[in-house]
Amino acid sequence: MQPKKEFDKIAIIGAGGVGATTAYALMIEGIASEIALIDIDAEKAEGEAMDITHGASFVQPVEIYAGDYSDCKKADIIIITAGAKQKPGENRLDLVKKNTEIFKEIIPSIIEYNKEAILLVVTNPVDILTYVTLKLANFPQNRVIGSGTVLDSSRFRTLIGENCNVAANNVHGYIIGEHGDSEVPVWSLTNIAGTQIENYCPICTKECNYNKEKIADKVKNAAYKIIEKKGATYYAIALAIARITRSILRNENSILTVSSLLEDKYEVNDVCLSLPTIVNGSGIKRVLRLPLNKKEKQAFQKSAIKLQNTIKKLNL
Ligand code: LAC
Repeated sequence: MQPKKEFDKIAIIGAGGVGATTAYALMIEGIASEIALIDIDAEKAEGEAMDITHGASFVQPVEIYAGDYSDCKKADIIIITAGAKQKPGENRLDLVKKNTEIFKEIIPSIIEYNKEAILLVVTNPVDILTYVTLKLANFPQNRVIGSGTVLDSSRFRTLIGENCNVAANNVHGYIIGEHGDSEVPVWSLTNIAGTQIENYCPICTKECNYNKEKIADKVKNAAYKIIEKKGATYYAIALAIARITRSILRNENSILTVSSLLEDKYEVNDVCLSLPTIVNGSGIKRVLRLPLNKKEKQAFQKSAIKLQNTIKKLNL
């Protein structure tokens, strides 16, 4: 057994909606004992840290403070949420140039103080920026993870659960590929109580207008809808980040659709995309090659080509 570390430290780069809500989620779940919140706007980081910390007496003790890049020292995980965010009418790939330039500042600032941490990339377009981070940090690929489609898989499970009147955590299903418009719902492997979704319907007595295309469309367009209504998304993504963080810090070996560098998965190479992956204290333990059907495999390969073409234009 590995000796228990004396404490779990996390650094979050970016104290905007996602970064601050992630710190809040980590505190509530009691996942880390020290959280450094780092932002170019130090006042904002300070305000968020104070506001979150003042609730500490209601939950497990945690030290949350506004810091600078030197506070990345000794962090187990460094979560990167900083960057320009999607505006109404924009898609995630529209942010690629702007946020790649921002990462060319952020990543060297991090590795100046910490070359051992696991880097968890959240900023969009997350698959491209996970790849950019891997190149800029030159870390082993198991220590560079993107939040990928962990949130999309949760949206998928939630919508199916609502449709079938079962709790989302009893629906097992994955969204793979790009965290974006080319994502792929893996219907062929989706199951409830171990029963393929097609075979569950006859068991379920509820009359339902179960429509795969509608559910997949709602998942894919969820962020656009939420951004139209409230300007940004941050609660569910923060919970997704906390879930990934927990699997790392507790060495859980949980299966999550995080984004990582793929090598020969469905003939896809040299791109970061999401597949069901075993995540533990080492970061990426193993990317699983599940038996996709022909249509799903082709859609996944199409998603990969779209992102590879975007990466080529970056001249990394
Ligand atoms: C969303 C953002 C995190 O899907 O891309 O809500």
